[in-house]
Amino acid sequence: MKTIIICISVHHGNTKKIAKAMAYVLNADILEPVNIDISNLEEYDLIGFGSGIYGWKHHNSLLNLIDKLPQTNKRAFIFSTRGNFIRIVPLKNYHNKLRYGLLKKGFEIIGEFSCLGLDTSGPLRFSGGKNKSHPDEKDLNDARKFTVGLKNGFKFTEIMGS
Ligand SMILES: Cc1cc2nc3c(=O)[nH]c(=O)nc-3n(C[C@H](O)[C@H](O)[C@H](O)COP(=O)(O)O)c2cc1C
Repeated sequence: MKTIIICISVHHGNTKKIAKAMAYVLNADILEPVNIDISNLEEYDLIGFGSGIYGWKHHNSLLNLIDKLPQTNKRAFIFSTRGNFIRIVPLKNYHNKLRYGLLKKGFEIIGEFSCLGLDTSGPLRFSGGKNKSHPDEKDLNDARKFTVGLKNGFKFTEIMGS
């Protein structure tokens, strides 16, 4: 199962840590959206899409890339790190834009993962931020378990992680 992970992690590299844990399990390459040559995606069986959550959605460069993709029937998974533990909106909503973008292109989404990440946005920077130790070892282990599930053909219907 040839896999690529497309990840952009601009705030603290939180999502990149998760991407690396996943890539190790799947023996996958990790590339940023700007470095993707769309014609090369043809060779992959599974594509992971991940970033931090910025303003209730994934990073624009990831969303813009998906807009440019051709119709497909490939399998995909989604992941994110985020600042909010208390879910002002259901966690699922944070992934909506990316999920619907992928579904519109014909992707089959076989799993979604999210966990907390250090957040020093806005006034949080004055206190050193929140979720200071995240992603922590448990988050990375959860990401590994999720990815082992994907590798073994399991499909997740709920967002995994914390
Ligand atoms: C400009 C900005 C907007 C953010 N918006 C949200 C948000 O809407 N919801 C949330 O839970 N976290 C939000 N965060 C926190 C990030 O999602 C969190 O820190 C994430 O782990 C960053 O991942 P990264 O280090 O991979 O970029 C925001 C952070 C920044 C810098």
